[in-house]
Amino acid sequence: MNTEADSAGAAPGDGRPRLMDCAVIARDAALARAAQAGGDGATGGRVLVLGATGKSGRRVVGRLRARRTPLRIGSRSAQAAPFDWADPAGWPAALADIDAVYVAYAPDLSDPAAPGRLAALSRAAAESGARRLVLLSGRGMSTARRAEDAVREALEGTGTAWTMLRACWFAQNFSEDSLLPEVLSGVVTIPAGEVPEPFVDLADVADVAVAALTEAGHEGETYTLTGSRALTFREAVAEIARVSGLELRYRPVPAARYAEAMSRRGMAPAAVAAAMLTLTETLDGSCSEPADGVRRALGHEARDFEEFVRRTAASGAWED
Ligand SMILES: NC(=O)c1ccc[n+]([C@@H]2O[C@H](COP(=O)([O-])OP(=O)(O)OC[C@H]3O[C@@H](n4cnc5c(N)ncnc54)[C@H](OP(=O)(O)O)[C@@H]3O)[C@@H](O)[C@H]2O)c1
Repeated sequence: MNTEADSAGAAPGDGRPRLMDCAVIARDAALARAAQAGGDGATGGRVLVLGATGKSGRRVVGRLRARRTPLRIGSRSAQAAPFDWADPAGWPAALADIDAVYVAYAPDLSDPAAPGRLAALSRAAAESGARRLVLLSGRGMSTARRAEDAVREALEGTGTAWTMLRACWFAQNFSEDSLLPEVLSGVVTIPAGEVPEPFVDLADVADVAVAALTEAGHEGETYTLTGSRALTFREAVAEIARVSGLELRYRPVPAARYAEAMSRRGMAPAAVAAAMLTLTETLDGSCSEPADGVRRALGHEARDFEEFVRRTAASGAWED
């Protein structure tokens, strides 16, 4: 298994750069420079990583670099061939001489523009000669199903193979995304009731992504990626508190109250509706069972939530 040396993450929230952000940005810039320089002793064709500076993408980049696989950073901040989902004119340059593409769509698969943009990107990738496309999808999300369908239909008969990574809730949502400020504030508020969720470790998602991008045998596969054990949010928060030493509690709220709070914070009605759809679809109990995607793809069990908690606590990500 890969170690998770690339696990420190950027924090969302108030928009101010955090110390951790600066370290991550500096490291990603170094990775990008090294990637643009190509790779002596490189293995396999060049991989374009879309969302390369995000939570999953930077882990994929770290692993590809470790294997000396040539790669190209795909994000708006990439120096050589910036990639913007809103600007298809720039896509051919990003896709030139690319063998495989990792796709983490931004901002979120619930974006109404996602299926159309993913279909267009898939066609462009096939036309430019890419042999593989790996989509980071979401378990239990109807919007993610539409995104997958768009990719499958666009690639039908093109000779470019797809692999779907149907990930459940990322464990790293507690350490690098929307739940980090809540963990740091001492109260994690979410309309999750007592529903168990088998949080997936992004280390496993990245391991599966790299296998699908660089090895044969994953073409046409849909892998449902979860952790090895389901925990309620109450149990997950208690585990983080126990290992990190933080004073932390879980506060379940009704979905309607949660939606009202998002509106009061200034979120647009369409964004609130999209977020609530994702929350209700993924936390209705239909996604509670751990799945076998990691074992099917990699031949070993998925990482456990406790491993994520110990690693993250040791990294200092939960120190305010
Ligand atoms: N959170 C979960 O639990 C979960 C579970 C399953 C699936 N997902 C899916 O995972 C995806 C997000 O992946 P992630 O968490 O790895 O990424 P992330 O941490 O949200 O980072 C977003 C990445 O996309 C880039 N980006 C943002 N806006 C862009 C634009 N307009 N054009 C091109 N690139 C853009 C960012 O770089 P720049 O700012 O430099 O452009 C960054 O590299 C979403 O589609 C989400 O639906 C999430």
